Amino acid sequence: MKFPNDFLFGAASAAYQVEGAWDKDGKGLSNWDVFSKIPGKTFEGTNGDVAVDHYNRYKEDIKLMAEIGLESYRFSISWARILPNGKGKVNEKGIEFYSNLIDECLKYGIVPFVTLYHWDIPQALEEEGGWLNKEVVDHFVNYATICFKAFGDRVKHWITFNEVLCFAGSGYLQGAHPPGIYNDEKKYFQATHNVSVAHARTLLKYKELKQYGEIGISHVFSPAVSVDDLEENKLAAYHANQFDHAWYFHPAIKGEYPEYVMNILEENKWMPEITEEERTQIKEASKHLDFIGFNYYQPQRVLKNKEKVEKRQKTREECIGSPGNISFDGFFKSVKLDDKKYTKYGWEISPEGFLDGLRKFKEEYGDVKIYITENGLGDQDLIVEDEILDISRVKFIEAHLKSIKQAIKESINLKGYYVWSATDLLSWLNGYKKQYGLIYVDHKNNLDRKIKLSGRWYKQTIEERGENL
Ligand code: BG6
Repeated sequence: MKFPNDFLFGAASAAYQVEGAWDKDGKGLSNWDVFSKIPGKTFEGTNGDVAVDHYNRYKEDIKLMAEIGLESYRFSISWARILPNGKGKVNEKGIEFYSNLIDECLKYGIVPFVTLYHWDIPQALEEEGGWLNKEVVDHFVNYATICFKAFGDRVKHWITFNEVLCFAGSGYLQGAHPPGIYNDEKKYFQATHNVSVAHARTLLKYKELKQYGEIGISHVFSPAVSVDDLEENKLAAYHANQFDHAWYFHPAIKGEYPEYVMNILEENKWMPEITEEERTQIKEASKHLDFIGFNYYQPQRVLKNKEKVEKRQKTREECIGSPGNISFDGFFKSVKLDDKKYTKYGWEISPEGFLDGLRKFKEEYGDVKIYITENGLGDQDLIVEDEILDISRVKFIEAHLKSIKQAIKESINLKGYYVWSATDLLSWLNGYKKQYGLIYVDHKNNLDRKIKLSGRWYKQTIEERGENL
């Protein structure tokens, strides 16, 4: 089987992780510009001031992406580049940059797939309460509308938010991302709800503008599976899926929050303030959702937690995504298992868990259109005589594309796959050492670029439309 012609093979990035030029051409400060400078927050103090200088080298990068044969490039817009204070006067230089980037993609026939929010809120708005402040929702809709009007003639695929679970969980439960708050469930649920409303209102605004493109949201897809058949562990897995998936997928797809979670929020006094108008907006938007984006890296193996939960700020090591942590509410625990394979960074490699999760998703949510907006291997690549021999990444992508092929055979509505990432980039808490790219960036040598083995392999796979997988 070949992948269908309307299936997009792409790769992805995010503004803060690649652009650099943090204060150039009128860009305002973002929360990450500030947070990454607080001692101890990031790996060896790394930050995105320069990142991989995509802001200045985007032409070279897009050319390399074209050489790989990418059909689509997913990137995000930095809100503070468009609106330095998050609201008010537009920075024309910011519009110009993204306009040029989009044109450069189109020059090579690469479809731009644009994320409006990949975690970098303007610092001025963070200081006004960030996602806890409902006025920020208005500012987001305004920012999105500016982007639709400026780029919507050429951009027909929009993602409102990237991984709300990750930025809100890390920001309000673990203290590992800005605003660096920890163990504040009430704030976490209020922020996630406000983001759901921002997504809904932005989607409705987009439809109102009649630009005839598609719009969706990308969430963490990390299906929880019980380690065995014990009832208490199966309940732990159910609980994990309700909080980590349903709390996000339900409002976007079904237009309402899952009852199981709502009951627990009520019992614990964690219920966010939700107005009737917001409920209606969420419901209405769900009817017009075009697709859901999944960022899949690994499943979660869980069991019922029996240990006491310590109410403290998590260390960076506890927040980098490898299993071994107790959930925020103490209900379940994720664990590493002896019979599973793990990456150098301790993330499970499970293309089977991916396929299994996709099947379960279809059972629950039906025929929703899906893009895999991120999937990839974080590694420290093998370099031999200047060649980047990232064989493990080739194997990783190959195995996951096979799962997708099987899923398509089973009529799961998958329409695209984006390798995380196009070029090597800044891993938020792991610095530049953790590489994901199809294109190598040499930090010892003027940030020179070079296509890796995985890039060449991906090129051939795209040319064959995956027939030989
Ligand atoms: C996703 C994010 O959570 O995972 C990316 O959307 C991120 O921005 C990627 O880089 C990999 O995570 P990490 O922590 O290894 O960089």
